[in-house]
Amino acid sequence: TDTTYAQALRPQYHFSPKANWINDPNGLVYHDGEYHLFYQHNPFGIRWGHMTWGHAVSRDLVHWTELPPAIAEENGTMIFSGSCVVDQNNTSGFGKNGLVPMVAIYTGHQEGLNQSQHLAFSLDKGRTWTKYAGNPVIDLKQKDFRDPKVFWHEPTKRWIMAVVLPKENKLLIYGSRNLKNWERLSEFTSATTPATIWECPDLLELPVDGTTEKKWVLLMSMGGGAPAGGSGMQYFIGDFDGKTFTSRHSDVRFLDYGKDYYAAITYNNTPRRVSIGWMNNWQYANDIPTTPFRGAMTLPRELRLVNVGNRYELRQRPVAELNQLASDAFQWRGIELSQLNESIRKNRITGDSYVLTLIADVTEDFGVKVRKGDGEETVIGYKTGGKQLYVDRTNSGQVNFKKEFTGRFTAPLQPEPQANVPSAPGRIQLQIWVDRSSVEIFANDGKVTMTNLIFPKQTSQGIEFFGNCLRSVTIRKVDSVWRK
Ligand code: FRU
Repeated sequence: TDTTYAQALRPQYHFSPKANWINDPNGLVYHDGEYHLFYQHNPFGIRWGHMTWGHAVSRDLVHWTELPPAIAEENGTMIFSGSCVVDQNNTSGFGKNGLVPMVAIYTGHQEGLNQSQHLAFSLDKGRTWTKYAGNPVIDLKQKDFRDPKVFWHEPTKRWIMAVVLPKENKLLIYGSRNLKNWERLSEFTSATTPATIWECPDLLELPVDGTTEKKWVLLMSMGGGAPAGGSGMQYFIGDFDGKTFTSRHSDVRFLDYGKDYYAAITYNNTPRRVSIGWMNNWQYANDIPTTPFRGAMTLPRELRLVNVGNRYELRQRPVAELNQLASDAFQWRGIELSQLNESIRKNRITGDSYVLTLIADVTEDFGVKVRKGDGEETVIGYKTGGKQLYVDRTNSGQVNFKKEFTGRFTAPLQPEPQANVPSAPGRIQLQIWVDRSSVEIFANDGKVTMTNLIFPKQTSQGIEFFGNCLRSVTIRKVDSVWRK
């Protein structure tokens, strides 16, 4: 089997493991110059099982080095999702000889029996781990109780844990001085959640752009009930007083409208907020047609909050470090669609790994077909009727491995008024990151995002635009991060 990164469906700038299965990102933490990416991993096979924390590190969130698995399944206890902190003041007592411990807080899973919260620590920058002899640290004698996200809360000088009772759609918040003894502080639920079950919570504070204000955001993965069907994510914006989280809106907010954005959490210990998600959907995750690996991460995204007309909104942008990979700009500005497509043809602008930015002054439907060729295409477009962004992957390549994979997915998206020209039509900007097996879209500066997997033939590399209201297009090739 081909374990190189040259494969037709191998992501060129999204993280994927050399071999075998991965799901959720775990323990995202920055420490001593390294971004750690742990993840749910089966070291023995290409389907879910034997859950272990796999491990990769990066200095720039772009180039990753895969390390040996970090925390392994043992005595029938699998290592489920969780988080990682740097215990600078050695509150846990795991530190020795002045070495600062990294502490992983994860769910120990005993199939059909129990899920409880466990600790492991590392004194060598996450390379080797010791499970805490006093595990579990929280055990409610529940079959479903998982995915702890722990962070340091400076105002109350203690550790806070966000963790869920999945089937009850309930978030539990705990506090601790030493990571070992936990006190239950509060719970949070939502009567309007469309979720079947809740998984992988993240509770984080964000400044509101251009103000001195800060708000708290709760990210929540939904095992089912997402807008595109199957698993996806919603979020809440509100307040956290050190004990209780309160949401400040009643509408349901989705983090991404594509079919393949799940279990995203944010980094601990970074001045900015960076999230990484698992680019997949439980409806078909075990069947996607890649080998000898199965599963990839989304691009790292920087999260921001804005206040527009007294409404707090989340914005997501690919981290700036990704720009180092982009080169070879093709640029077009104009009003003649036929000239655009002709210029694309004449200059042989094709590819399977690039970032495309387009701007339209929205007077009619428009869009772009990517990975086009041999009867295949992935259509990204906007419909003025209904004001919807959509991705249609019905003819994107391999779609028949599971019936839930194929389809057309939509997101509500309003054209932005052009402040200086009030009479002008509203504007939409799309930044589209195309990789060998995915299309990740950031619309109107990350107000709406859509992430979808695709599995086209290697030779399907055409690009074709439609809609006369396109005004500018930029296409930059994105280099492989795996090239030596
Ligand atoms: C989410 C999830 C988590 C769990 C892990 C198991 O995708 O179901 O709730 O901890 O995957 O691999």
